[in-house]
Amino acid sequence: MSKLPVTGTIEIAPSVLAADFAYLADHIARVENYVNILHIDIMDGHFVPNLTIGPSVVRKIRLHSKLFFDTHLMITDPAHYAPEFIKAGADGITFHLEAVTDPQTIIKQLRDLNVAVGISIKPKTPVAALLPVISEVDMVLLMTVEPGFGGQSFLPDSPHRCAELKKLLRPDQRLEVDGGIDPTTAGIITKAGADTLVAGSAIFTATDPAAAIKAIYNAVNKDVL
Ligand code: DX5
Ligand code: ZN
Repeated sequence: MSKLPVTGTIEIAPSVLAADFAYLADHIARVENYVNILHIDIMDGHFVPNLTIGPSVVRKIRLHSKLFFDTHLMITDPAHYAPEFIKAGADGITFHLEAVTDPQTIIKQLRDLNVAVGISIKPKTPVAALLPVISEVDMVLLMTVEPGFGGQSFLPDSPHRCAELKKLLRPDQRLEVDGGIDPTTAGIITKAGADTLVAGSAIFTATDPAAAIKAIYNAVNKDVL
């Protein structure tokens, strides 16, 4: 099982949601040597109005990649399904605070399964709602668009929310952002404290995904950390 990269680096996590699902292995191969993390969006049609993939697809792509599988569960019952995704090859599980009533118990369940643990909030959820559990996770995922679909525009209050969240985190916890990240938004959000940048459309719809990754790195002010 891969480990979440320790903090102190900016990591770019390509989101396979924007890849061509008929050619997933080929598209992952285009980014494999340029990043450490692959972001995999799981949607159930309940928590968000869209459906994506289940554990059987994760199990198959696991055979083609050594990257850290950052599994973003946009589902109403993460406690029930997380073990299946872990068996399929997920290295990290991120669930939504809004989906659960007892996040502490789920975090403990995930710890026992030996994966990196992330918790996510949607754009309208106050950052302060994370306070009861924030010290217990390895990563917080701040949604910078409404979850459910790729290709949306970065929400303008995201840097402010990111900075607020950064103040609540220890230096050993990652702050991931997801939605509308590209070379024009990467700089401002890393300055606000993000160190893990999910990008779907900006990478997989580019004719050269490796060049697109480099363009995001270049846009990031390297002295933010
Ligand atoms: C949206 C997903 C994102 C999505 C981002 O609900 O969580 O990971 O793939 O897509 P872009 O980078 O196109 O905004
Ligand atoms: Zn995501």
